[in-house]
Amino acid sequence: MSFIKVAKTSDVSENRMTCVNTRHGRIALTRIGDELFAFENTCTHDDGSLDGGEIQGETVSCPRHGALFNIRTGAVERMPATEPIEVFEVRVSGEDIEIKID
Ligand code: FES
Repeated sequence: MSFIKVAKTSDVSENRMTCVNTRHGRIALTRIGDELFAFENTCTHDDGSLDGGEIQGETVSCPRHGALFNIRTGAVERMPATEPIEVFEVRVSGEDIEIKID
């Protein structure tokens, strides 16, 4: 496990998603208040791109069939998805956003 740089803090806006490509696949970043979140960008139901959905509180909705995931834990909060998404620990180093990844 190590932290890798994925974006600049200025790249990520409140309640909007920024998608980055990493060796672990496509990862979405968002900011809620002062807190940054990073999570797998692919819905576990049928591979919808979550960055096309909406952030509501600490959840993201999938634009394809409406599944809802908690972006802090990855847990499913609304079907049709049944498997959680992966979430990643985030830290800020200067102006860089880094996430912990295998
Ligand atoms: S692909 Fe996300 S709910 Fe179906």
